[in-house]
Amino acid sequence: MQRVVLITGVAGGIGRATAQVFAEAGWRVVGVDRGADAAPEGVARYIRADIADIAASQAIFAEVTSEEGRLDALVNNAGVQVAKPLVETTPEEWDTVMGSNLRSVYLAIRHAHPLLRAQGGAIVNVSSVHAVATSANIAAYAASKGALSALTRAVAIELARERIRVNAVLPGAVDTPMLHAGLMRGHVAGANLEELMGALAARTVMGRIGHPREIGRAILFLADETLSSFITGQELVVDGGATARLSTE
Ligand code: NAI
Repeated sequence: MQRVVLITGVAGGIGRATAQVFAEAGWRVVGVDRGADAAPEGVARYIRADIADIAASQAIFAEVTSEEGRLDALVNNAGVQVAKPLVETTPEEWDTVMGSNLRSVYLAIRHAHPLLRAQGGAIVNVSSVHAVATSANIAAYAASKGALSALTRAVAIELARERIRVNAVLPGAVDTPMLHAGLMRGHVAGANLEELMGALAARTVMGRIGHPREIGRAILFLADETLSSFITGQELVVDGGATARLSTE
């Protein structure tokens, strides 16, 4: 029986790469995003929807139930970033970040639960190193990812007896549209994206920025029962060593 995975944010950098990694490993991929018209490569069923919306989230999992009949893994990858000082972050921006990064995960887990418990399965939440250590001007995003870590642990405990494992991947800087947008917001006069990416890479422990497929492979590891059957409630940091180094070094 072919295993089925649902990946949110499938039209973004990490989502697209993760869909390809799962498809290459023989999974059937259901992809959800609000941003693309057509299914990205490797996606067998594409659903265009805003996952922060209750009715839309319900409709996604109703379609998976009626059309796929099973779900083995849920990858909560969609996310948005607002890069501003907290006191300049508007209530609408705060709600947008929490809606896409946190509320959507709560809704997806709730609606996927009947499908996952039918045969056991895995949930992988794509968090961020900002859940562990952060910087100025990104408080709403960091708070949403910190909450996602707490949610991962709490739900892992609740669902373990139903043979549903729940873990998180915490990426560092990865070459995607989100990273590009973040770098350009901090735009230094005269610098272009290539220079900013080069400067960021030079500051990292491994001397480079991560590739989206490197996150996809970590997600696959945590989603696949045959690879990570005794791991639940954990966070896998995939950051090229970024959080290993003291900031005082
Ligand atoms: P991206 O901006 O390339 O892709 C994100 C995708 O999520 C977009 O296609 C967007 O349309 C979709 N999305 C956002 N909110 C949605 C909603 N409410 N409903 C439906 N779709 C929605 O970003 P990237 O870099 O691929 O990020 C994926 C995940 O990885 C995010 O959760 C992000 O926070 C996390 N991450 C990314 C890092 C990076 O350096 N790129 C570092 C650490 C974490």
